[in-house]
Amino acid sequence: MKEITGFSKFNKQQKIDWLTQTFFNDSEKAQKILKQYWNEDQKLQKLHDEFTENTLSNFYLPFGIAPNFLINGNFHTLPMTIEESSVIAAASNAAKFWSKRGGFSAKVKNTTKIGHVHFFFYGNPEALATFFEETKPAIIETLKPITENMEKRGGGLLSLALIDKTNALENYYQIEAKFETLDAMGANFINTCLEEIAAKLYQEAKNSFGYTDEQPLLKISMSILSNYVPECIAYAEVNYPADQLLDDKESSLKFAQDFVKAVQIAKVEPYRAVTHNKGIMNGIDAVVLATGNDFRAVEAGVHAYASRNGSYSSLTQARIENNQFIFSIEIPLALGTVGGLTSLHPLVKLALEMLGNPTAKQLMQIVAVAGLAQNFAAVKSLITTGIQEGHMKMHLMNILNQFEATESEKNTIVKLFESRPVSHSSVVEALENLRNEQKVL
Ligand code: MEV
Repeated sequence: MKEITGFSKFNKQQKIDWLTQTFFNDSEKAQKILKQYWNEDQKLQKLHDEFTENTLSNFYLPFGIAPNFLINGNFHTLPMTIEESSVIAAASNAAKFWSKRGGFSAKVKNTTKIGHVHFFFYGNPEALATFFEETKPAIIETLKPITENMEKRGGGLLSLALIDKTNALENYYQIEAKFETLDAMGANFINTCLEEIAAKLYQEAKNSFGYTDEQPLLKISMSILSNYVPECIAYAEVNYPADQLLDDKESSLKFAQDFVKAVQIAKVEPYRAVTHNKGIMNGIDAVVLATGNDFRAVEAGVHAYASRNGSYSSLTQARIENNQFIFSIEIPLALGTVGGLTSLHPLVKLALEMLGNPTAKQLMQIVAVAGLAQNFAAVKSLITTGIQEGHMKMHLMNILNQFEATESEKNTIVKLFESRPVSHSSVVEALENLRNEQKVL
């Protein structure tokens, strides 16, 4: 294969032709697969084409729902976009379990977002500190046209500080800017402000220190928000008498104690913590994705937060205190319910509407609860039946679909596996036997 030039100028069909003719023996079949996911509604297809670049097709993920989430006294049905079997069933089970035990309580602890102008300064650090204090009001003033609207609604720039990072890297400093972005995730707003701050900082430093562009004393490296948002935290909790969690007192207490121990393992053991938190992210990502938010940003921030004390650890906590079983999550979440995909993608709009068009703060609470519920379901299975029992039952359907089982074949095989363990080979064998029997008849 040789390098392709001018690719971005190709129209959609030309791009498809190039791809299918370059990489596939059966280019017609490849074209058919790409096109079978096109939407008949051309306007809708165009909308999706324009979300990103070089779009050739749509990649479907299931959009499911998990009902019965009682959060702060109100019932919610959560939209979940995820391909993994069992996740939505587990969320729904956990929601039902806790709806009968007081539900989830959730709150937002804070909503501050952070960004930095990273720069190098080759002069006297004290002179830089004085210069910054003197220049700060002028920097804030230049931001006014950008921050005005956000300020009217109660948000905007919260603080601006010079941070000396020269202990970590020679001549390295930051302007750290903190923001309140209300219902917007705020990436564009923050990055626009930061680039403006950088330009003003450079210009003012040039005037003040009298350097030339050829030999600057201050060099801007980059201006960008941080996806690490440890001051934008949602908290969710369930709380119930430990001896009343299950049907009888003895098994309840045992369950609560085993649960606490399992979470303690994830507190101290990174190998377990990563999988434990992956289960939490099953719930979080699914709701974040369905509501049109940036799940990569959330993932990056969450895992950094899980390592904030120096080693990677559980995002949830569990304890028994005066016979109360208390299980909670604290998680950084920079989410938006306006801007971005939220007003563009029809399914995202629908997802937000079914949640009652929440504010960003309300969505943060809902997402934290999704993570807590998912973790509850996973740990509950792990310390009782094991994870495979439920998982493989759900997986059964995937295997049957893979082998294009008919509805009647599915019914027979699902019935058969109600009383035996599911494995890929045993399902395939059972399907083959069934098909052979049908041939004989
Ligand atoms: C699977 O997607 C998630 C689990 O592994 C999470 C966990 O182990 O806690 C079941």
